[in-house]
Amino acid sequence: MSTQTTSAAPPGVWTRKHLLGLEDLSAAEIVTVLDKAAEIKRLSEEGERKLATLNGRVVVNLFFEPSTRTRTSFSFAAKRLSADIVDFTSSGSSLSKGETFIDTAKNIEAMGADLIVVRHKTPGAPHLLAQNLRARVINAGDGTHEHPTQGLLDIFTIREQRGRIDGLCVALVGDIAHSRVARSNIWGLQKLGAHVIVCGPSTLVSKGWERLGVEVGYDLDAILPRVDVVNLLRIQFERQRTGLFPSIREYAHLFGMDGRRLSLAKDDVLILAPGPINRGVEITPDVADGPHSVILDQVANGLVVRMAVLSLLNEQPL
Ligand code: CP
Repeated sequence: MSTQTTSAAPPGVWTRKHLLGLEDLSAAEIVTVLDKAAEIKRLSEEGERKLATLNGRVVVNLFFEPSTRTRTSFSFAAKRLSADIVDFTSSGSSLSKGETFIDTAKNIEAMGADLIVVRHKTPGAPHLLAQNLRARVINAGDGTHEHPTQGLLDIFTIREQRGRIDGLCVALVGDIAHSRVARSNIWGLQKLGAHVIVCGPSTLVSKGWERLGVEVGYDLDAILPRVDVVNLLRIQFERQRTGLFPSIREYAHLFGMDGRRLSLAKDDVLILAPGPINRGVEITPDVADGPHSVILDQVANGLVVRMAVLSLLNEQPL
């Protein structure tokens, strides 16, 4: 059951046409999205599952990287808001004939797209579209840069479970170097008053992260007793050019969340993971499916958070 509360920031603030990252957003804007998502969730729980907010609008999923949760969730969100949804995937498209990224997007827009949800391996690709298109643009993950709707749904889930973000200690564990989820979590959580620790092998978590205001740690067992939330980030082998730790087994031994390690944490610690999860690497099945895990709550909340984002952007003039 939702225990959503508002932070000190005044709610109801939103004037943006695009959602490109959480680094740019104020605390008040983040709270506006969270509160809007909470309102949509409440309506859904009361039986109002279908809303007319985007009636007549066309949402296009423009994905140049694989996705299960984000793409499907945006599709569900658009349908629940009464929009038409079109799925573009790069494989089988005319990109293979040399058409550029921007030309591809402009052609999709010319067919009537009002809101474009884009995932691309290149950091800044959504920003490029925002500069070149008339449609509203949502960043669904740009390389190692940001994944703002994942950050928002993580924060929404924590706030729902704990009633607040301010004063919480949140550990982001794993492949911080290659994680767009880490960056969006860091920006969003800190703006709402959380203390953030990043933890992982030194090859994936440099001391340089302290520049963003976070604490850097390498001993997960020592950190666990202090944290309220652990967000387990996937090892992104597809973005690593060389082996950055000796073996998966060693990573799991030092940083994987298993029952023994969980017993070092607070009794009410929350376990999050953005997914996809590698069972037995970042997390063992007993923890992933256990009582501290809110991994599937995150997925469910992703729907209402994305409905909130689509609704707020739609209110802005083109
Ligand atoms: N968390 C996340 O972005 O999952 P997908 O890659 O499946 O969309």
